[in-house]
Amino acid sequence: MTIRHYLQFTDLSADEYAYLFRRAAQIKAKFKRYEKHQTLADRTLAMIFEKASTRTRVSFEAGMYQLGGTVVNLTAQGSQLGRSEPIEDTARVISRMVDLVMIRTFEQERIERFAEFSRVPVINGLTNEYHPCQIVADIFTYIEHRGAIQGKTVAWVGDGNNMANTWLQAAKLLGFTVHVSTPSGYDIDSTIPGVELGDHVKFFKTPHEACAGADLVTTDVWTSMGWEAEDAARQEAFADWCVDSEMMACARPDALFMHCLPAHRGEEVSADVIDGSQSVVWDEAENRMHGQKALMEFLMLGQLDD
Ligand code: CP
Ligand code: NVA
Repeated sequence: MTIRHYLQFTDLSADEYAYLFRRAAQIKAKFKRYEKHQTLADRTLAMIFEKASTRTRVSFEAGMYQLGGTVVNLTAQGSQLGRSEPIEDTARVISRMVDLVMIRTFEQERIERFAEFSRVPVINGLTNEYHPCQIVADIFTYIEHRGAIQGKTVAWVGDGNNMANTWLQAAKLLGFTVHVSTPSGYDIDSTIPGVELGDHVKFFKTPHEACAGADLVTTDVWTSMGWEAEDAARQEAFADWCVDSEMMACARPDALFMHCLPAHRGEEVSADVIDGSQSVVWDEAENRMHGQKALMEFLMLGQLDD
């Protein structure tokens, strides 16, 4: 059987996403009713964290237990990865013992090397370049609140980072537009393999212009994990890229606000926006778990519509 990895958003087709969002809704409804849904009984997920996490760790771990499976949790420091064991050897060994692997790491190339030597599906839990599981949750959350995302406009305000790259991939695949505004020098890097420009993306000088007419306004930290040495310079460069109520007022009156979290109130978003009525950040965080349960099930068992 061919192994399906989930290393980038483009690893699933638009039809498969339609299934995934339907399935996530079914799985979420059962969770809310305390109904058992144990399609991965006796399966084991290994998680490797080379960067910090709260949501990714809890959503995958709780989700796998709810699916009837178990979880093994590794960090770089607490494993031989931190003592230079090659990622290829780690992949060969771990994938003989578990059914599924989730990795949060630095370069995308590192997860690709792991996947090449893995006997089991590998899921990207965030790399420097991409964060596909987060965009699954974000789009699922949009659909829950507003219906189909096709034809809509998402405003990306802030860093041209892993989240921005993944929004671009999703827009091209699922048929919506991303309005991007980044401070100069922090633009989206279209030389990254898989980051494509085209009709699905438009660039704006000011964040207010990017937000004009948007159905969804979204942002992220100014300094992502791995870029901490640039923090002081970034604080200065991003000062005008704080999503506040004035910026939200440029968007459609029914626009939603999303942030993958963790958030820094007073930096990339004002407290009144993230804690205000247009914000759906807590649903977005919860939906990490429901989306990933659907994803893990899909990678292991294929489509299982009731
Ligand atoms: N959004 C997200 O991935 O959160 P964590 O870094 O806490 O996992
Ligand atoms: N862009 C952020 C996302 C954190 C979930 C980072 O990579 O640190």
